Amino acid sequence: MKIIKGMNNRLIKVPQILMIVTFLGSAIGLTGCGAEIDLEAPPLLSEGDLSQGRSAYFDALWDGNYNNLDEIIITLKKEADAGDPQSLAVLGFAHSWKLAEYRRDPVNSSITDHAKLAADAFSGAIKELPHDARLLGFRGSFRQARGRIENNSLLTALGWFDEVNAANRWPAWGLFTKAYGLITFGPDESLYQQGIDSLWDNLDICAGEEVNREAFNLQDYPQLTQSNDDPRIERPCTNTPVAPHNLEGFFLYFGDMYSKASNINKAETMYRTALEVNTGSWPYVNVATKRIERLQDLPALFNLERGSSEPVSVDDINLFQSQISCVVCHQGPSN
Ligand code: HEC
Repeated sequence: MKIIKGMNNRLIKVPQILMIVTFLGSAIGLTGCGAEIDLEAPPLLSEGDLSQGRSAYFDALWDGNYNNLDEIIITLKKEADAGDPQSLAVLGFAHSWKLAEYRRDPVNSSITDHAKLAADAFSGAIKELPHDARLLGFRGSFRQARGRIENNSLLTALGWFDEVNAANRWPAWGLFTKAYGLITFGPDESLYQQGIDSLWDNLDICAGEEVNREAFNLQDYPQLTQSNDDPRIERPCTNTPVAPHNLEGFFLYFGDMYSKASNINKAETMYRTALEVNTGSWPYVNVATKRIERLQDLPALFNLERGSSEPVSVDDINLFQSQISCVVCHQGPSN
């Protein structure tokens, strides 16, 4: 049994960590833990009067301009320190992007600091903007990232707790966020299966009916690509100005979950669906096409453990751990 050292110097066995996380997750799932459904969608951070830092951040995300992040982080930090809660929230997203796509710059050794910086910014922003469940969901992801980096099982569990609460408050948005990342578990682990289930549950909520899990066909659910009167459905479930390829990214990740689990048929369905929802301007169409061309190779590739500084093509690694982890949904057309 693999033994790793906890931050507090106690020895913790890996399966124990998983048990704590799974237990806390299910306990919270059962009780709901005070997280009631949010009746309104939170205001968009990318709309309204944009500060210089926020405007630069959303421009960079649209253009896929990862290289501008360091400078943008400095500007956002100044705005946040001067008391701007929206800039504090976007600062959290800026650190998130920096860490999530670190494979663009794998030699940067201080990259893991961004997990703590992201989680801290979200903690501050949640106090000021308590009705935005997205901040809670993202804090959860980056508390978990930090927990894994520092081998701190408590933080990992707290991160899971945040994600479960966010998914309870705004299921159409939070179920994906909760599932995004579970691909790092082994396909036989229960959290992996929970990730697949969350993605199906997410589709059910977006479709307003239970979708066919055995033979999913996008054509049977035209509502999935149509506008919806309820912004709590439309914003997380369709392609929108701030997430112009949300659906493509969702189905690409869903396909990767099935590829790593060696379910090639389901993976192909999901990759084909990603291509089907694309109306022609998705910058990462080639990633989905290439996965369909070499479906047989994907289970082995996605089950390889990669060193953090090893250069890996986006075609050889799952979406979540790849250099397009955020821009897959957020980048606009290249011309
Ligand atoms: C599967 C597609 C997808 C992926 C992958 C994704 N996002 Fe998003 N993102 C969305 C959707 C959908 C929303 C919700 C938009 C809304 O609230 O209307 C969103 C919201 C946001 C917002 C808030 C936008 C606003 O105007 O309030 C930011 C910032 C953001 N995401 C950054 C990121 C970062 C950073 C990553 C990578 C760690 C990421 N996203 C990964 C789809 C995605």
